[in-house]
Amino acid sequence: MHEVAKGLAGIIVTETTASMVDGSAGHLTYRGYAIEDLTTYANYEETAYLLLHQRLPNLHELTDFQQSLGTQMALEPHFVEVMQRFPKNCHPLTILRTLISMLGVYDPTADDNSLETELHKAYRLIAYTPIFTAAWSRLRRGLTPIPPDKNVGLAANLLYMHTGLIPTPAEVAALNVYLILMADHSLNPSTFTSRVVASTDSDIYSAITAALGALKGPKHGGANEATMEMFMEIGNPENVPSFFTEQVKGKGRKIMGFGHRVYRTTDPRSVILRTHAETLAKNSDNTRWFDIAAGLENLALADPYFMERRIYANVDYYSSVLLYMLGIEPDLMPLVFAIGRMAGWVTHILEQRLENRLIHPEAQYIGENDRVWVKLEDR
Ligand code: SDX
Repeated sequence: MHEVAKGLAGIIVTETTASMVDGSAGHLTYRGYAIEDLTTYANYEETAYLLLHQRLPNLHELTDFQQSLGTQMALEPHFVEVMQRFPKNCHPLTILRTLISMLGVYDPTADDNSLETELHKAYRLIAYTPIFTAAWSRLRRGLTPIPPDKNVGLAANLLYMHTGLIPTPAEVAALNVYLILMADHSLNPSTFTSRVVASTDSDIYSAITAALGALKGPKHGGANEATMEMFMEIGNPENVPSFFTEQVKGKGRKIMGFGHRVYRTTDPRSVILRTHAETLAKNSDNTRWFDIAAGLENLALADPYFMERRIYANVDYYSSVLLYMLGIEPDLMPLVFAIGRMAGWVTHILEQRLENRLIHPEAQYIGENDRVWVKLEDR
């Protein structure tokens, strides 16, 4: 009998040059650049270019890349017609997963896995994910989708297409920080899923559709939605102590947005997101949600149960407050996570194809053996 690594915890299954997660020290780098530098000096498009092309773009390359994304950012009528027939109460990530799969239906190059064609599809996926997200957020409210403004970047466009309002520079900066921080995170569940599908030489749309399916779970990309719903259940900062005592300590309820398979210290992304969430909260004169989050975090940090297990706030904790302050409803939050992570998913798919070996682990059989057949009439 072999030792089974439940959930593949701690198992190294591939090599990557895309990002490095140092779970002990709490560091994250993309192609060797620290997220602290990327969130201070770069925008999401620059980060996506770095992941896809393995180096930072010069001004000409970045302008070209942003224009390439801009030309892809359109919402063809056949997508709107289909979306208008979707049930309005369907979870938005299910809608996005379906639309991304449909993107492959209308792409004649879908099954051409050559690098040049794959790169073109990668740009298409990065461009379409915010388009679909914003269009569904409006259609499900009976509103008409707003076409993108080709003169602004992806973060500004997402907010504009979602709200119909021109976002402030602070709002655009905060969303860029979020999207940069979500762009890649080594072999997390959804990225691993995309690599498994790519390893069979299946197409990029199948791999991304599968990644979206993995992302949907509240243990992974659905956590930001569950975290915001938890804060809304708490309601106001005065209720935090009783929630912690009764629900978390008394009933063993998990604090959503807390804990991580790899980080054994505070998720470095949470540290950056906390600052931006607090700034947005103070700018809006509505610090309620930030105060609830900070109050609950303080109680957990002072609690032996959490400290013994090294359970800290992860990326989804303060990002839920940041996104809510930007007008993103909780059930749309996993889609904004997907908008950011799209760059990482397509990067890992390209990396898998470069040196591919079918991903095929094994399972330990622990069932019965040599059972004697019993005829149907005798059972
Ligand atoms: C993301 O991997 C990535 O990179 C993912 C991600 C990315 O960028 O792609 O970082 C994004 O998915 C972040 C995680 C978002 N999920 C949540 O916030 C949901 C709440 N968190 C937990 O479900 C949990 O922490 C996981 C799933 C994130 C990690 O789970 P593990 O590694 O399988 O650990 P575990 O569930 O075995 O927990 C170990 C112990 C258990 O206690 P004991 O059995 O020892 O008594 O820690 C406890 C757990 O009960 N625990 C928590 C807790 N998380 C773990 N207790 C209270 N609250 C929590 N949030």
